[in-house]
Amino acid sequence: MISKDTIDNVFEAARVEEVIGDFVNLKKAGANFKGLSPFTDEKTPSFMVSPVKQIWKDFSTGKGGNAITFLMEHEHYSYPEAIRYLAKKYQIEIEETQQSYEEKQKSDERESMFLVSEFAKSYFADILWNSEKGKAIGLSYFRERGFSDETIKKFELGYALDEWTAFTDEAESKKYEIDFLDKTGLTIVRENKKFDRFKGRVIFPIHSMSGRILGFGGRILGSDKKAAKYLNSPESLIYHKSKILYGLYQAKQSIAKEDNCYLVEGYTDVISMSQAGVENVVASSGTALTADQIRLINRLTNNVTVLFDGDAAGIRASIRGIDLILEQGLNVKVVAFPEGDDPDSFARSKSFEEIDAYLKEKSQDFIQFKTSLLLEEASNDPIKRAELTRDIVASIAKIPNNIQKEIYVQECARIMNISESVLFNELSQILKRGNREVRQQARAKTPFTGVKKEIKKAEKIDQLFQMEKKIIEILLLYGNEEVDFIDFTSETDEDGRKKIVKAQYSNAVCKEIYMHLQEDEIEFTNPVFLKIYYEMIHLLNQEQHISADLFTNHEDQEISAAVTDILMEEEKYSLSDWEKHNIYVKNKENYLPKLVMDVLYNLRRLLIAEKIHVLKSELKEPETAAVDLTDNQETLESIRDYTALKQLLFEKLNRVL
Ligand code: CTP
Ligand code: MN
Repeated sequence: MISKDTIDNVFEAARVEEVIGDFVNLKKAGANFKGLSPFTDEKTPSFMVSPVKQIWKDFSTGKGGNAITFLMEHEHYSYPEAIRYLAKKYQIEIEETQQSYEEKQKSDERESMFLVSEFAKSYFADILWNSEKGKAIGLSYFRERGFSDETIKKFELGYALDEWTAFTDEAESKKYEIDFLDKTGLTIVRENKKFDRFKGRVIFPIHSMSGRILGFGGRILGSDKKAAKYLNSPESLIYHKSKILYGLYQAKQSIAKEDNCYLVEGYTDVISMSQAGVENVVASSGTALTADQIRLINRLTNNVTVLFDGDAAGIRASIRGIDLILEQGLNVKVVAFPEGDDPDSFARSKSFEEIDAYLKEKSQDFIQFKTSLLLEEASNDPIKRAELTRDIVASIAKIPNNIQKEIYVQECARIMNISESVLFNELSQILKRGNREVRQQARAKTPFTGVKKEIKKAEKIDQLFQMEKKIIEILLLYGNEEVDFIDFTSETDEDGRKKIVKAQYSNAVCKEIYMHLQEDEIEFTNPVFLKIYYEMIHLLNQEQHISADLFTNHEDQEISAAVTDILMEEEKYSLSDWEKHNIYVKNKENYLPKLVMDVLYNLRRLLIAEKIHVLKSELKEPETAAVDLTDNQETLESIRDYTALKQLLFEKLNRVL
């Protein structure tokens, strides 16, 4: 693990405008910078960087955060990867924390395997570009296939000499240990003999999402029927076939930007498509798609378009795997290529415009595609048609979203020319047959009744959310400020009447809020706000200042995202109107004590209203109440008390404002 000190140093050194400036063209706008969103194709800038607050916000997608989050969103780095990137940029030495012996061994082993793989990648590329045999055999093979030099470099392709130990000898002479050459499978070790796994093959390095070398695919030259066309790295600590998508590293930006991922079968399909200008493409490398691979895609987009070779048998086989994509909640489209073409050959024979037009025109929704395809096969055979119905409905059942399910049922009924109710029946049977867990999930997500109630509840949750957000905002912006508060407490006089008494005192905003919330035992309902609030209280208890940086740079991504969101909200105005915004802020500080009281009272009122609502629903019907009248009596009394309290709050609120 990277030490806390290193992370602190990185945060201290990194300037958000410099980090983002490497990727986005930023222009000064008042105190901020603005630019075109790197996440969408837009004409007017809605991307904003605040050098003062050290945060950014993209108003067209709603994304935002600090320098680290930007790298995670834009480069799709993990947190430690982003830290390492910044450490490199700002020349900060990375210090690793103590690990247990086993942890250290394992991570050392993985690191060593990565190092060996990185070396191998460079070695194979060097052979391809710089050795006589490499150029004559490897490079000319790729060029003959139509790969440009630029493409060959982009995918870091290489060549392994057709000699038994050329690579292993070179690696050992560079002091790479045979143990790691063996563990990565680059060298095959048998008793005392060792030889190069990929000898005589052209090399396709396989990158992780962040660009580390996980393994290799090696293609035989020519068409020796006895040898396997491709050899791949064996499963290891760093190479997990089921978690890898070939081309993802090169495609990730484009996938996020286009909000779609094309899925093909092979290495060469990816490369040819990418060269043709369709860059958002990855390959499952000849295996059936796995849930892990789909999750990788899902980090970048919700939309997958599967490209099929132009032969029917292939389509039949691939269709099964696609249900898995539906199950993960992604939208799936498919495109079938003309008979005899695969994406590789198709891309090589067409211009970008032609390919793009073809993909757009031929892309079909998966379920509709499957329906028409199977329908063709079943034609007029009633048994086959029944089978087909079950098959289609089984696919639909996999979709987590109920509204989408319903749309598909309607659509398929139309294509198959059968009634919707037949399909709905089939669907409910499949859902019933499914295991209990799936069934419960489906039910929970289907609010067949009480839709209105749901909406009411949602509105209330939204109000509550807004108020909680406001409190966090006040704490972030003005938490440390001492101001004069006016409050009204109620006292009971000798006659037992409630009287409202005015009180005036000075207090820090955060202490005032803390006091009020604690007094009424109010907890934040939003889990992220709750976390932020607890940390603030912790700071308060240690007599420390609440500073926004602590939260925008928080290692908990949810916290930093929420805080960035709140802080950038007001900057939004400066995109259009800087002056007006300034006035707004000034006013806000003048009215700070009122602002605090206003939100606290309103929060209380909302919570009390909710309490009364719950109590009312607990009131028993007359006939059952007869059994236990006292029960209802108590509830009624509570309602009366709470209503009085609500009225009191209302009066207080009126006086404060
Ligand atoms: N594959 C493999 N091992 C094989 C054959 C195929 O791992 N023996 C994987 C490779 O990832 C390959 C993909 O399956 O890219 C698709 O196979 P295929 O269509 O046969 O290969 P292409 O990539 O089309 O290669 P080429 O065009 O060079 O024949
Ligand atoms: Mn091919």
